[in-house]
Amino acid sequence: MKVTEMLVSHHAMLRSVFKEVERAMGEAETTEVIVSLAKVVEGLIRDHAEAESNMLFAPLDSLLLEKGQFQQFYTKHEEYLDMLERVGRPPPGRDARSLLSVAITALQRHFDVEEQVVIPLAEKTFEPESLEKLGEAWLHRDTDLVTLAAR
Ligand SMILES: [Fe+2]
Ligand SMILES: [Fe+2]
Repeated sequence: MKVTEMLVSHHAMLRSVFKEVERAMGEAETTEVIVSLAKVVEGLIRDHAEAESNMLFAPLDSLLLEKGQFQQFYTKHEEYLDMLERVGRPPPGRDARSLLSVAITALQRHFDVEEQVVIPLAEKTFEPESLEKLGEAWLHRDTDLVTLAAR
């Protein structure tokens, strides 16, 4: 699988998690439940951001003449992770539900932008074999994480 296809498939998986989280938010009766949902999303986004940065953005950036094109994405990752952390941060009574909702909407827009910007750039810059090699590396990273978690 190409690295660009891995990006799209990760985003698709996360979008379906968001759908489930939004459904669970609708049924949640306490702030604690919302905070737990935000923690799940935060963990998944932290891992996804690390994977796409190491497996796609950094290798791509190393080949581009104009460096630093991915800085906007790194900054956004920090911003969204901070939004998700704020869901569980005092003071109590802060509207956890709407904070999480805003973060999920922003993340979906971020995925769209990444796909629109990074995929054409990667396909123009990498040789087809490199796209496949990076995709394999990303896939192995995911498999290794699953194996570690199962131990
Ligand atoms: Fe991202
Ligand atoms: Fe992404």
